Amino acid sequence: MGAGIIGIGRYVPEKVLPNFDLEKMMDTSDEWIRTRTGIEERRIAPDDIDTSDMAYFAAERALHDAGIEAKDIDLILVATVTPDRSFPSVACMLQERLGAVNAAAMDLSAACAGFMYGMVTAAQFIDTGVYKYILVVGADKLSKITDWTDRNTAVLFGDGAGAVVMGPVSPGRGILSFELGADGTGGKHLYKDEYIVMNGREVFKFAVRQMGESSVRVLEKAGLTKDDVDFLIPHQANIRIVEAARQRLELPEEKISTTIRRYGNTSAASIPISLVEELEAGKIHDDDLIIMVGFGGGLTWGAIALRWGR
Ligand SMILES: CC(C)(COP(=O)(O)OP(=O)(O)OC[C@H]1O[C@@H](n2cnc3c(N)ncnc32)[C@H](O)[C@@H]1OP(=O)(O)O)[C@@H](O)C(=O)NCCC(=O)NCCS
Repeated sequence: MGAGIIGIGRYVPEKVLPNFDLEKMMDTSDEWIRTRTGIEERRIAPDDIDTSDMAYFAAERALHDAGIEAKDIDLILVATVTPDRSFPSVACMLQERLGAVNAAAMDLSAACAGFMYGMVTAAQFIDTGVYKYILVVGADKLSKITDWTDRNTAVLFGDGAGAVVMGPVSPGRGILSFELGADGTGGKHLYKDEYIVMNGREVFKFAVRQMGESSVRVLEKAGLTKDDVDFLIPHQANIRIVEAARQRLELPEEKISTTIRRYGNTSAASIPISLVEELEAGKIHDDDLIIMVGFGGGLTWGAIALRWGR
C-alpha cells in the first residue's frame, strides 16, 4: 500500500479584501491587478486569528473527513513561513489543541512549496510503515509580513490554511512519484526582511520554467504522459504562471485549478485549499491522476503525481 490522502480540510478568513479596496490604499487599480495577476480578491485574517488558528480549523475538518481521531495521528507537519512565534512550533500548538497526544510535531519551512515538501516527507514515513496517519498542514498569514505600502507585493497575497490526513491507501492509488528541489542562489529574489521583498520578474521567469519542467518530470518518473493527466493543481501565485503550466501539459481550462481569483497567493496553503475546492466542485474523482506542483522563496519547488482515492 502506498501513501495517499484520506481526509481534507481548508479554512479561509471571512474578511474579503477586493482589489477596489486596495485602490484606496496604494497606487494600483483593479484592472492592473486582474490583467497582470488574475486576482480579484483575497482573504485577510483579523488580529485575533493567527496561523495556528487557521491551521487548527483546517486540520479539524481534515480529521473529520478522514474519519480518524486525533489520538490516531503519528506525526503533525505544518508547512509555514509565518508561524505564530519561532517556537513552540505551530505543529506543537496544533498537537495540544487537537489532543493529538501520540503525535510527534514539527514545522517545515519551504515557503510556497512547503506543502509539497510536507506531503513528500510524510509519504516516506508511511511508505516505510513507521507511521500510519500523518497530518500535513499548509498555513500562512502572509498579511502580517506584507508591506501594505508596496504595490509590487501587497496586491498578491492572502491568508488561509489547508490540511490533509495522509495514510496508507489501496494499491495503485496515492503518490506515484515526486520531485523536490531547491536553488539557494535565487534566494535573493524573494525573501523576508521586515516584510516580503520580491523581484517579481525573476520569480516569474523561474516559476514558469520550473512548474512546467517539474510537472513533466514527475509524469516521466511515474511512467505516464501528459495524456494521462486528469487534473492539475498548481501553486496559485499568478494566473499567467498557472496558465503557462496548463499549456505545458496541454490541458483544457476545466482541468486546472484557478482559485487565485478569490484567494490570491496563500503561500503554503494554496495547493491544499485548491484541492479541497476542486473536490467539493466535483472535478476530481476516484482514480483520477492529479499533478500538484508548487514553487516558492528559497528558491524551492516540488511536484507530486498522485492517483486520487483511498
Ligand atoms: C509581480 C508581477 C505580478 C508583476 O507583473 P509584471 O507583468 O511582471 O509587471 P512588471 O514587473 O513588468 O511591472 C510593470 C509595471 O507595473 C508596475 N506595477 C507593479 N505592481 C503594480 C500594481 N500593483 N499596480 C499597478 N502597477 C504596478 C510596475 O511598477 C511597473 O511599472 P514601470 O514599468 O513603470 O516600472 C509578476 O512579475 C509576478 O507575478 N511575478 C511572480 C511573483 C510570485 O509568484 N511571487 C510569489 C512566489 S511564491
